[in-house]
Amino acid sequence: MKQLIINGNKQLSGEIKISGAKNGVVALIPAAILSDEGVTLYNVPNISDTKSLLDILDLLNCNVEYKDEVLKIDTKQLENKVIKEELAKRLRASYYFMGALLAKFNYVEIYFPGGCNIGSRPIDYHINGFKKLGAEVEIDGNKYVFKTKKLKGADIYLDFASVGATINIMLAAVKAEGKTTISNAAKEPEIVNVASFLNSMGAKITGAGTSEIKIEGVKHLKKGVIDVIPDRIEAGTYVIAGALMGKDLKISGVIEEHIEALLSKLKEMGVEIKKEKKSLIINKPKKYKPINIKTLVFPGFPTDLGQPVSVLLTQADGVSIFEETIYENRMGHIKYLQKMGANIRVNDRTAIFMGPTPLKGEEVVATDLRAGACMVLAGLTAKGTTIINEIDHILRGYENIVEKLQNAGADIRIKE
Ligand code: EPU
Repeated sequence: MKQLIINGNKQLSGEIKISGAKNGVVALIPAAILSDEGVTLYNVPNISDTKSLLDILDLLNCNVEYKDEVLKIDTKQLENKVIKEELAKRLRASYYFMGALLAKFNYVEIYFPGGCNIGSRPIDYHINGFKKLGAEVEIDGNKYVFKTKKLKGADIYLDFASVGATINIMLAAVKAEGKTTISNAAKEPEIVNVASFLNSMGAKITGAGTSEIKIEGVKHLKKGVIDVIPDRIEAGTYVIAGALMGKDLKISGVIEEHIEALLSKLKEMGVEIKKEKKSLIINKPKKYKPINIKTLVFPGFPTDLGQPVSVLLTQADGVSIFEETIYENRMGHIKYLQKMGANIRVNDRTAIFMGPTPLKGEEVVATDLRAGACMVLAGLTAKGTTIINEIDHILRGYENIVEKLQNAGADIRIKE
């Protein structure tokens, strides 16, 4: 079993360059199969979630070339196949093949998706959306079967602004006959990225990035091209690393508006952030003021940064309150922060941090992707050696995390 070994409390400086967004590319790759010709994606991160989706493309008989962050997908020989359990359960985003294959073939067989264990994570909004567009849905053991004679545009209201449901319905509706409106749509930047990609193929989508998305169905989608947006959660994670241990640490390739909620909270804590064109320079302050954080949908504070930012809350001078509102079970990191010396009380989805508490190196577990990022940040801050187990979760979403941190001065390595 691979482990991450970190000898902590080392200053971080130099530059960390942000990769393409995991939660963007995992939707863009399934969206690619909607093109009848083929697509090119730039800035594609080399993470294990990308590889898992390429394995699904291989199953569907797409020809793929992936080199130097450029991914070319030839869809001309695409075939509809059952998405096998072993492939579907490797990641959450396998579910985007539901919408994409339904639009392409009017028929999909796909096993239940996987993903981090952070709550029950139902997909009822996706399914209700497909039904409104005219699909029938059956559950056969661990497998979904979707079928339709023809998808037709519909007005779809989401009870909650779900990222996954918004994208999946957009994928299904793009070739449906007539107009679709998604109300209370999610507004995350990854949704805009997917809509731009589909529009580059000839789709007619307007309103992405607002709470009402309109889609006018088209018959064919041609060649497409897209730059994957920078990963705002990866950027946020390294900005937090800078707030914890940075001396003029430069985080480059960032779209600042995508992490505005985090930056504003860090400033409230007293962290010095200098802005340059597409870069941020972060310095650790002498002291951190305590703050309160509540996770919300975009542009609110992202749930995916809740676990990473927890390390900073352990260092604040006083009581900080953190509330998770998106998932019911995203507190897997807390017991390991406590093991490292943090003083935290948890009540359901709220965690109360009493700081500052020095952290000491310990053997811990990455219980999920962002809990793993939290453990890395804790390890970088702690005195002594931190050993992180189950690091495959981390490698699913952070490209070259070890090299990036080593280049910034961290003492971190993978033990095979
Ligand atoms: N929900 C439902 N029914 C649905 C869909 C969602 O009840 O049909 C609930 C979920 O259970 C959850 C909430 O709505 O409580 C939000 O879920 P959403 O659909 O927005 O999340 P997601 O699409 O499953 C994506 C990211 C997550 C990120 C969330 C929120 C991907 C592959 N995953 O998940 O990323 O936390 O949006 O921004 O894009 C991560 O990167 O660590 C991660 C978990």
